[in-house]
Order: sequence, then structure tokens, then C-alpha cells
Amino acid sequence: MAMKVGVLTGGGDCPGLNAVIRAVTLALHTHAGATVIGIEQGFRGLLEGRGRELARAEVAGILAEGGTILGTDNTCDPFNDRSQGEPRDRSAEVLAHVRRWGLDAVVAIGGDGTMAIAHRLHEAGVPVVGVPKTIDNDLAHTERTFGFDSAVAVVAEALDRLATTARSHRRVMLCETMGRYAGWIALEGGLAGGADAILLPERPFEVEAVAAFCAAREAEGRSTLICIAEGAHVAGEGLAVRATIASSPDPLRLGGVAAQLERRLQPLLKSEVRSAVLGHTQRGGTPTAFDRVLATRFGVHAAGLLLRGETGRMVTLAADACGSVPLAAVAGQTRRVPAEHGLLAAAEALGLCLG
Ligand code: F6P
Repeated sequence: MAMKVGVLTGGGDCPGLNAVIRAVTLALHTHAGATVIGIEQGFRGLLEGRGRELARAEVAGILAEGGTILGTDNTCDPFNDRSQGEPRDRSAEVLAHVRRWGLDAVVAIGGDGTMAIAHRLHEAGVPVVGVPKTIDNDLAHTERTFGFDSAVAVVAEALDRLATTARSHRRVMLCETMGRYAGWIALEGGLAGGADAILLPERPFEVEAVAAFCAAREAEGRSTLICIAEGAHVAGEGLAVRATIASSPDPLRLGGVAAQLERRLQPLLKSEVRSAVLGHTQRGGTPTAFDRVLATRFGVHAAGLLLRGETGRMVTLAADACGSVPLAAVAGQTRRVPAEHGLLAAAEALGLCLG
């Protein structure tokens, strides 16, 4: 009998999710005549038994579409569900739906939270293959996650725009990016957009050092463009937290560090200081060509793993080749910018301020 596979997208959305859904569906149809069930709203849909068959026609034309046609959710952990008050293990309900649908395996497309749940699901007896998604590029054991390149492109374009207005007014302009506890988006986006200073979570900064850098430029009649990651912070101080979402596996939502730094820099400088937060513009919209191709490669590789019975693994990219690692190796890990990273050395060589 032909295989039946469920596909879900978990955690925050990002450009390229639909490209993976399309690639998994087409590859499984083509090579195995498999039936693919699209599970709605991530693990919430798996818990509540909400899904629909994905025929080839349904995935036609979605390659370049942002978001996810299946919907997603970043608050549901079936092993620790808080939707009805006290946390409860509701994995038995998930297993019942998997049996009812007759699923042979599940493809879980998501970030570290999704991979942690996928790992537990696999251990509970449901064969799972993970596909690494996140604009943050912070998943362990993969050089790239799809969505990251699209987010970097948004940051670069925003910096281009902020640079011209900053220059016209000789202002200090702060641009806050996403990225959680890793500085990848700010680092690559900052370099691509010609930022004068890049502040990362991995390198706590001193306000006085940033102010001195801006003041020196100010003395020469120059503006300063600062790209700051939402997880960046002053040495010895805590993170800027925008909200806490108790029901979420990762409850902290970061945000506000650019506005905080604006307030602290202003009294130390003659030029005006302004800040902009890019927020969810980095997650929305169409994927770049790079992300469309990467997402397609990941989807095809995931289908191949399933067909070979190699489950309990997450697809990876290393030296530009797709591979895979056990889900257990990814769960609960964050890949941050290492101190010796070549892009940091490049930023230093250019004379950028890193805090
Ligand atoms: O992990 C992706 C991400 O966009 C982070 O960069 C950001 O901190 C977080 O999600 C925002 O989450 P939410 O959409 O719940 O505000």
C-alpha cells in the first residue's frame, strides 16, 4: 500500500515554508505515489485532528508565496499543553489522530521548539523527519535555515533606506532586527546594508563606547547607521523583553533595545538619534530565490529520508550539501555567532563598531 505522510509547519512562520510543503508533496507523489495530509496550525492541528489531503493541484503556484498555506502555531506542545489551564500531556490524543489518519510518518517543518517536540513524538512511536526553518538561522548542525536569506534581504533594503535619511539629517539611526538570542540577521543584514556599527547578543556592548564612535563621526559631519539585534544588550545588563507569553515553549518575546539605546545615546550626542524596528516585516512576504531553492532542496531531501526509512532525523546543510542529523542532537540547542566567525573579522577589518 502507498505511503501516507502528514506535513506540518510549527513555530513562527517564515518565507519558504510553502516551498518546502510543495517540494515534500511533489517528491512523495512522484517517487512513491504517496498520499500527503497537510496538518493545520502545526502541533495544534495534530492534537485536534485537523488536516486535509494535499493533491498536486493544491501545491501548484505556492513556491513564491510567503507564510504557510497550512497555518502555524507557536504555543502548542502536546506533551505539555497549557491551552486548558494546568500543563497536561495530551500526546495520546495526537497518537489517536495519527492512527485514525493512518499516517506512516510526519514531516515537521520548524525551528528548535518544533524539533524538540518532533523528537519526543518520534520517541513516542511516530516516525518523524524535521526540516529546519527560521529567519534566525540559529538551529544547531545546519549552516543555513531557509527564511534567513529573505530576512537579511529585508534588513539590507531597510538599511539602504535609513542610510539616506540619516545622511541628509546627519543623524544617528538605529535599526533593530529580529534573531532572538543569535546575531546572525543583524550581522549579515548589517554588512549587506553598510551599517557603521553592528551590535549582537554575542558581544555585549558599552553605551559609552558606541557614543564615542558616533561622536567621532559627528565631529566629521557624518551620520551613523547602527544595526542592532533584538537580543543585543549592554554588558552586565539584561535583555529587552517586549512580552512574556506563558503558554509558549519559549515564553520571552524580545524587543525594544533600539528605543532603549536611543534614549541613552541622545544625552551623550549633539546629533539627533532615531530608531526603527523592522519586526515582522523580516518574516513576511515572498522568499528570495536562494530561499526558494534551499527550501526545495530541503523538502526533496526530507522526502528521500522518509522513503529510505531514515526517520528521527532533521535535514541539514553542510558545505552546501544536504545531510541529516538525529533530532536528539538538535533539540534544546541554539547556534550563535562564534567569536572567531569570519564575518566578525571582516566587520572589524572595515573599522565597524561592534560595541
Ligand atoms: O524565531 C523567529 C522570530 O521571528 C524571532 O526572531 C522573534 O524574536 C520571534 O520569532 C517573534 O515571535 P512572535 O511572532 O511570537 O512575536
